Amino acid sequence: MTAQLIDGKAFAAGLRARVAQRTAALRDAHGVVPGLAVVLVGEDPASQVYVGSKEREARAAGFHSVVHRLPAGTSEEALLDLVATLNADPLIHGILVQLPLPAGIDENRVLLAIDPDKDVDGFHPVNVGRLALGQPAPVPCTPRGCLMLLKETLGDLTGREALVIGRSAIVGKPMALLLLAANATVTIAHSRTRDLAEVCRRADIVVVAVGRPGFVPGAWLKPGAVVIDVGINRLPPAPGEAKGRLVGDVDFDSAFQVAGALTPVPGGVGPMTIACLLDNTLEACLAAKG
Ligand code: GUN
Repeated sequence: MTAQLIDGKAFAAGLRARVAQRTAALRDAHGVVPGLAVVLVGEDPASQVYVGSKEREARAAGFHSVVHRLPAGTSEEALLDLVATLNADPLIHGILVQLPLPAGIDENRVLLAIDPDKDVDGFHPVNVGRLALGQPAPVPCTPRGCLMLLKETLGDLTGREALVIGRSAIVGKPMALLLLAANATVTIAHSRTRDLAEVCRRADIVVVAVGRPGFVPGAWLKPGAVVIDVGINRLPPAPGEAKGRLVGDVDFDSAFQVAGALTPVPGGVGPMTIACLLDNTLEACLAAKG
C-alpha cells in the first residue's frame, strides 16, 4: 500500500473560492470590502515572489489589496510610521509585514506595533498569548493550513499521537498549540531531541518544519501515519537542469511507501498559507464591521 496524497492545492483553491464568495456577499449586502496591506522591505527574491502571490490572490478574492515595497535601507522608524498609518486606516483590516526584515530592523518591535486585531499573520505577542490560552485569535497561516489538511484527512483528531518536528514561532510552536486545542496528544521535537526516529515511530500524525531537505525518511514513520511536510527546499540543479527541484523536509519516495497519507511538495502545504491569509483577513474585516 502506498500513501494517499493530500491535495493542498485543490483544498486551497476551494478555500479561496469560499472566501471570494463571502467577500462578494459582504460587499453586496454591506458595501464593505476586506482590505489587506502587505509590507515588503528590501529585495529578498523569495519574499518578492511570496508578496507578489499574496497581492494577486487578494485581488482575485475581491479584496482591496495594497503592497508597500520599501527599499532595503528603510529605517525602523519609517517602517513603524507606516505600520501606524495602516493601523489607523479604516479601509485596511489586515496588515502583514513580510519576514525576514533586513538586518538593523528589530523584527519584534515592528510586529509589536501592528494592531493585534489587524495582525492577520497571528505573530503579535497578544495573539500568540490568545492562542496559548485557547481564546479566539488570528492564527498563523501555515500551521492553520496544516490543521485544516489534517482534519480533512482524519476527521476528529482527539487522542491521536501527534509529533511536531521544529519549534519555530511561525510554524512549530503554533502548530503544537493548535493540535493540543484539537485534543491530540502532542510532542514537540527539535534539533536536541534524542532518538528522533523512535519518537517518530510512535506518532499517528507527523508535521515536519525544519528546513532540511529529506530530513525524515520513511523508515522513521509508523505505517499508516499522516505526514504533513511544511518544508520547501530548493536542491542544487542537477546536470541539465536550469533550477534545482523543490523538495520537502520529508524523503518523499520512502515516506510514500509507509505513510497512510502525505502532502506533496510542491502542492501540499504551500498553497494553504495564502488561502488562510485571505480567510484571516476576511475574518478580521467581519470582526471590525461588528
Ligand atoms: N516569511 C515567510 N513566511 C511568512 C509568513 O507566513 N508571514 C510573514 N509575514 N512573513 C513570512
